[in-house]
Amino acid sequence: MYPLSVDQPYPREQWWVAAYSSEVGRDVLARDILGEPVILYRTEAGEAVALAGICPHRAFPLSKGCLVGDAVQCGYHGFRFGADGKCQHVPSQTGVPQNAQLRAYPLFEQAGLIWLWTGSPGRADPGLVPDLHSLGLGRDDWAVEQHPVVTVAARYTLLIENLLDLSHVTFIHHSTIPAGEKVAAIPVDVIETEASLTVQRRGENLPLNPLLATQFPGQLGPFHQHFDAEYLGPCLIRTGGAMYDAASGKLLGVQNYLHLLTPAGPSRLHYFVNTARSFGIDRPELGEMQVAMGSRIQPEDIEAIEAIEQVLQSRATMPREISARVDTGALKVRRRLEMQIRSESQGVARHGE
Ligand code: FES
Ligand SMILES: [Fe+2]
Repeated sequence: MYPLSVDQPYPREQWWVAAYSSEVGRDVLARDILGEPVILYRTEAGEAVALAGICPHRAFPLSKGCLVGDAVQCGYHGFRFGADGKCQHVPSQTGVPQNAQLRAYPLFEQAGLIWLWTGSPGRADPGLVPDLHSLGLGRDDWAVEQHPVVTVAARYTLLIENLLDLSHVTFIHHSTIPAGEKVAAIPVDVIETEASLTVQRRGENLPLNPLLATQFPGQLGPFHQHFDAEYLGPCLIRTGGAMYDAASGKLLGVQNYLHLLTPAGPSRLHYFVNTARSFGIDRPELGEMQVAMGSRIQPEDIEAIEAIEQVLQSRATMPREISARVDTGALKVRRRLEMQIRSESQGVARHGE
């Protein structure tokens, strides 16, 4: 499925952010993940639970049900399923039908995020979640803002490619990102490790702009500024980076933009943005500014990738794709993702032998 050369749109042996911790409580939350309806809630003890969202009796959406203790009760005929997914109760009979069971998804909650594993439960290793601590999440010496989750009518790979080619900042965000007009002209390096691939831009001797003036009062510039785009897996891309006083070389701080993406289905995605900064952590107005900026910038990206999704859906004859040097990182990420998806289907074939 475009832009990948594999049929499967996404890997399944993978952690994805299902919800913010603050979204999940004692009401049933519905969220589609990898094309499957899922419900999320908390037990009375506060443990997050994720179950398949369709009742196996007559396919009523369990999001229309209610919680009874730690169980969810279907709103149609009252079948009740425990937090482990097992059917506990069927009205008007003793005992429950054999195999009456909902899929229960392994979860891992950290730094205000609920991660959900869509692969085989035996392989759900929380060690496979990207290292959030090093990015500034879940620690006292950084400030973090969680931006509202948005569902976008586009395949998740279009957002990955949007984020890995920040030359779009100069064009799509020319009026919303200070210094954005400079980004496209900065040369690109691609740094690869086993865990990540970074498309790296180093802005040098940039003049003061209104954003830097607010972030670093008293600093007059010029500044060195990193405009990184780091792919940490299909679920997470980090943009932003370190900022320095150009004259002294002193590190002023790091501002990370953490883009957490989860396929809702083949052509829809959930988009969670967290901003994390290592400076001014006692200045909440900096966080409010990031959220306000995000509310202007994010719709510009969404409009762009939804427009591309519509072209892809329109059955128009696709022109032959032309890539430029700036696309090197994004093309390498396509290959990584294809390899991840292929290795899963080969693994399944091996296990099925
Ligand atoms: S459809 Fe859920 S109990 Fe009948
Ligand atoms: Fe953008």
